Amino acid sequence: MQEVVISGTGVFTPPHSISNDELVEAFNAYVDLYNAKHLAEIASGEVEAKTYSSSDFIYAASGIESRFVMEKAGILDPTRMCPRYDPRPDDQPSMMAEMAREAAQVALAEAEIDAADIDLILCAASNMERAYPAMAVEIQALLGAGGFAFDMNVACSSATFGIQTAADMIKSGSIQRALVLCPEITSGHLEWRDRDCHFIFGDVATAVLLEAADVAKRPQFKLRSTRCATRFSNNIRNNNGFLRRAHDQMEDRRDMQFMQNGRKVFKEVLPLVSDHIAKHLEDEGHDATGLKRLWLHQANKTMNDYIGRKVLGRVPTPEEQPNILKDYANTSSAGSIIAFAQNKDGLSAGDLGLICSFGAGYSVGSVVVEAL
Ligand code: COA
Repeated sequence: MQEVVISGTGVFTPPHSISNDELVEAFNAYVDLYNAKHLAEIASGEVEAKTYSSSDFIYAASGIESRFVMEKAGILDPTRMCPRYDPRPDDQPSMMAEMAREAAQVALAEAEIDAADIDLILCAASNMERAYPAMAVEIQALLGAGGFAFDMNVACSSATFGIQTAADMIKSGSIQRALVLCPEITSGHLEWRDRDCHFIFGDVATAVLLEAADVAKRPQFKLRSTRCATRFSNNIRNNNGFLRRAHDQMEDRRDMQFMQNGRKVFKEVLPLVSDHIAKHLEDEGHDATGLKRLWLHQANKTMNDYIGRKVLGRVPTPEEQPNILKDYANTSSAGSIIAFAQNKDGLSAGDLGLICSFGAGYSVGSVVVEAL
């Protein structure tokens, strides 16, 4: 069986950042407008008054300080509260494809290979911009990559499930090189008017380049093992599928965007992830306490701190368990890969690290890598 290596990573960071204070100021202005508009119904008890958000709550509950977005003005306009993403004509590249291309080019440059040598492009993300043709095929064309391409969606776990999918193809010999791309425009499926979740997400795109060890010029990590698991839950859900009308009346269509029962997610996902990692490591004969780095999905700082403590059996240092949540917020599938791409240096040959993502489904994916 072919050995698989990671030889490049890339992150595309959108041009605009929104701080908690900016976000809360816009949200609270929206609350004032809403409450003024519904003054009579609120007074009669027909409508519930909306309450202010707060930067202190956001930081304390999530560890998020800011988030990047592809468009900022629409989100911060209290009369609008969603980004302005005008539909692009069919003869122009789609947004996800452009973002993914940027991240992919960084990874290709790092690995010192040409796009034409890629055999597989996986676009692995929480939402696709359209039903078909697959985003991945458009990205393949934009890059000038060879081989074939397809989309896959396992929500926040898409990156690690994509890595396992690509790695298994390389191991079997059906391909030699793959790009796993996670372009996430979460700002398009977040309800910015919902106080419980308006602060959670940000936009980004990431790339991981996997190659057969035999052909890699610049191998960085050996892929030691991967493991994926799923268990159905409705606690994180988005009903915006092709059987629904487009949500032009957004007021009535809250379920067409990100929905979650955050408390339940918190309680149910923690044991699922910690047990999954422990079992994965044990089955592969790895000593968890010997892991030199944990690149975890970036959903919530308290959750990540808990998982890190549970896995290592002690409080990890910030270097051992990088946190990119404060600058990027939750970027769905891309979070663990941003953490990996920006914090993969400084390990010695033979050191083991773990990439782990988790989220809707529920789904958990873990990847053990060895520094070369
Ligand atoms: N500003 C100020 N206060 C807020 C607020 C906001 N934006 N949002 C909620 N609150 C208030 C609530 O009204 C509540 O007040 P009360 O106690 O007076 O009723 C209080 O803060 C606690 O709210 P709650 O929703 O229970 O907060 P929490 O501590 O559970 O934190 C999450 C909320 C979403 C951050 C947390 O549950 C979480 O991280 N869950 C996991 C999310 C996750 O990982 N999802 C995966 C997505 S892929």
